[in-house]
Amino acid sequence: MADPSFAHAPRRTFAIISHPDAGKTTLTEKLLLYGGAIHLAGAVKSNKARRAATSDWMEIEKQRGISVTSSVMQFVYEGTRFNLLDTPGHQDFSEDTYRTLTAADCAVMLIDAAKGVETQTRKLFQVCRMRNTPIVTFINKLDRPGQDPFDLMTEIENLLGIRCTPVTWPIGSGDEFKGVYDRRTKKVHLFEEQAKGSSIAEELVVDMTDPRLPDVVGERLWKQLHDEIDLLDMAADTFDLEAFQRGDSISPVFFGSAMNNFGVGPFLHHFIAMAPEPGARKADDGLVETSDKEFTAFVFKIQANMDKSHRDRIAFLRVCSGRYEGGMKVFHVRLGKELRLSRPQQFMAQERTAVEEAFPGDILGVFDPGNLRIGDTLTQGSSRLFEGVPRFSPEHFARLRVKDPMKRKQFIAGLDQLVEEGTVQAFTIKGNEKDPILGVVGALQFEVLKYRMENEYGAPVELDSLPFTHARWVTGEDASPEALDRARYGTCVYDQDGAPVALFKSEWELNSAERDYPKWTFHPAAPLRKAALPQKK
Ligand code: G4P
Repeated sequence: MADPSFAHAPRRTFAIISHPDAGKTTLTEKLLLYGGAIHLAGAVKSNKARRAATSDWMEIEKQRGISVTSSVMQFVYEGTRFNLLDTPGHQDFSEDTYRTLTAADCAVMLIDAAKGVETQTRKLFQVCRMRNTPIVTFINKLDRPGQDPFDLMTEIENLLGIRCTPVTWPIGSGDEFKGVYDRRTKKVHLFEEQAKGSSIAEELVVDMTDPRLPDVVGERLWKQLHDEIDLLDMAADTFDLEAFQRGDSISPVFFGSAMNNFGVGPFLHHFIAMAPEPGARKADDGLVETSDKEFTAFVFKIQANMDKSHRDRIAFLRVCSGRYEGGMKVFHVRLGKELRLSRPQQFMAQERTAVEEAFPGDILGVFDPGNLRIGDTLTQGSSRLFEGVPRFSPEHFARLRVKDPMKRKQFIAGLDQLVEEGTVQAFTIKGNEKDPILGVVGALQFEVLKYRMENEYGAPVELDSLPFTHARWVTGEDASPEALDRARYGTCVYDQDGAPVALFKSEWELNSAERDYPKWTFHPAAPLRKAALPQKK
């Protein structure tokens, strides 16, 4: 249960980015364990297993060994309230990940010490860099034979172009992993091994000068540690907190073993001091400061059927300014109407708790019957729109057909929800409104859609791939995808709001249209819309 006494506690809102198998689930679980949100590690995994058993959809996650859903968890550590946004690890689900990262103020880049920088880490890292999101590095699995820590730092620096400043340093590795040295406190944390780290690791924290050390870690490792620390003190950059928080190319580095809880405590302790507080957010009318009185938030994720037995649809909001209070009415900028948020929830490990108040940096999960969409802004009356929740341009297209016409109702309900979750976009074409054209960024999403339509909505579907590669929303004087279609510069379809969109079969076709209609702007995503403010009576 969330402790109400932490209502005004400082916040840190972050996400973990990593390649599948680097240990994200394990580290998440350990953070929750240290934050008192769970009491015995293994709970998150067993929750994963339970979900897999109750929801067929999760089968796909199990089979592929990837995490395709993401959620948000909270925990409290040393008086700071953490909001941890879970991001799916597979590349084909990256839109969801990109959007989730827009709601985070900081990212923890988790790296497997044996594998180093992997492809997915690299991609996610780039997203964070583009947004100037500060990145903390945690090098995991030190309990296994891995690469030399100096080599790992060089690899990170060379491949990612970010300067590494170790905050902790490992003492030995593999079977000889004894603990970590904290370069800031100059203390050595020696760990006692737990049974797979199911509870918080017992640590012996001693001074580097403690005479027992050579005996405890062994003469050779003790000498090696001395040499390595001398080398680091001479060669490594000093950590510039401000530059890091600004999102400059600099990353504090921690070492550990999430599985055994080694290094998790020192990591969390320093993370509180280093990770930035929730900051100002850019809207179309300027920066919104966290200290602004008006409550503002944006929707970064919609998740349908998190719990199949409830058939729920949850919109995740990030609070940017002001204070949310239970029962409060908010202004929905796109629709131009007032809305009462229904049963806002926060998530503590497996539990959902009702929220009575929330502050900047917090994430609210709202049960929503269909009013909210990804990218929507909520305010207390002002007509601003938050920018920066990326919208993606589909690159693969297919016509969708329901196999059994008797299942048409389920088909429509399922499609509507999947469109709202933002993993597919649906278009209609004049003359065949019944069979929509779908657009996705990664082709795997078609497979996921097929699976979910059948398993969650009971409406098996067929997909016939179409040769389009680009979708463009067109603005400008007399701009008209219909006119483009007539002039054979593409095919005109209509998006879910009925706006005309031009689909092109190649870059060349798109370039020709852009060249021949120079006064029009071709947008890869639908321009943001807002309704006029209601007239004050
Ligand atoms: P992911 O969410 O990033 O995909 O990774 P996950 O935590 O599921 O971890 C992937 C595998 O790596 C798991 O092993 C996990 O136990 C292991 N692992 C995570 N952290 C550490 C660590 O610090 N040291 C070692 N040695 N292993 C670690 P698995 O065999 O796939 O699953 P399990 O049977 O252990 O649960």
